[in-house]
Amino acid sequence: MREKVVVFSGAGISAESGLPTFRGADGLWRNHSVYDVATPEAWARDPQLVLDFYNERRQLLRRVQPNAAHRALAALEQYHEVVIVTQNVDDLHERAGSRGVIHLHGELMKARSSERETLVYPLGERDIQLGDLCELGSQLRPHVVWFGESVHNTDQACNHIAQADKLLVVGTSLSVYPAAGFITLAPDKTERYLIAPEVDSLPDGFVWLKGTAAEQIPPLLQSWMN
Ligand code: APR
Repeated sequence: MREKVVVFSGAGISAESGLPTFRGADGLWRNHSVYDVATPEAWARDPQLVLDFYNERRQLLRRVQPNAAHRALAALEQYHEVVIVTQNVDDLHERAGSRGVIHLHGELMKARSSERETLVYPLGERDIQLGDLCELGSQLRPHVVWFGESVHNTDQACNHIAQADKLLVVGTSLSVYPAAGFITLAPDKTERYLIAPEVDSLPDGFVWLKGTAAEQIPPLLQSWMN
């Protein structure tokens, strides 16, 4: 029977593709201060440092590939309605073939006007330099949600989670709100699974599948395809 499967993903699903997480041993927030590169104040204080941080992450992203977890989620669309609510700004879900991807924290492969947030531009092979301007003549910035800015697509994400038959949480420390709180919107009938190598505290009603995304997602989804 075709079901509604909602996936809530974080940086851990892209770790096996070679992208750093934020809070792991070699995480981004181990080597950079959030306050230097991921807040509106940082942008006002030193836009070049901010652009360098996101340009470096984007250049790495272009060199890596989706992993078995991303690919299995794309394949599941042949069997079920699949909606991916992701905190990630990488495009690996899309590059694996997933179509229903909702980005809560923005998209690294896009730029936006620093004056009007609805002016968004795909970057393709380009990065963002000081002096790159939007059509209004304002500096382009990463299309990424910084700390203190509002999360994107909240209503859409919450509505999907509230209607999920299955909710699969993968690769997130569930430490950043409001995103982390969205998973509590799943109704009691929803089957809940959490995939991560370690868990600080397992949210209510979840089955913990201990291991990495690329190890645990393909066999789990295979059992949903039969
Ligand atoms: N497979 C599955 N999970 C993994 C793997 C893996 N190979 N490697 C690490 N993990 C898990 C870690 O155990 C951790 O729980 O992924 C999680 C990564 O947590 P974070 O680094 O905190 O990333 P995330 O939860 O996505 O951060 C949320 O914080 O800084 C903001 O905007 C940023 O979207 C980000 C948000």
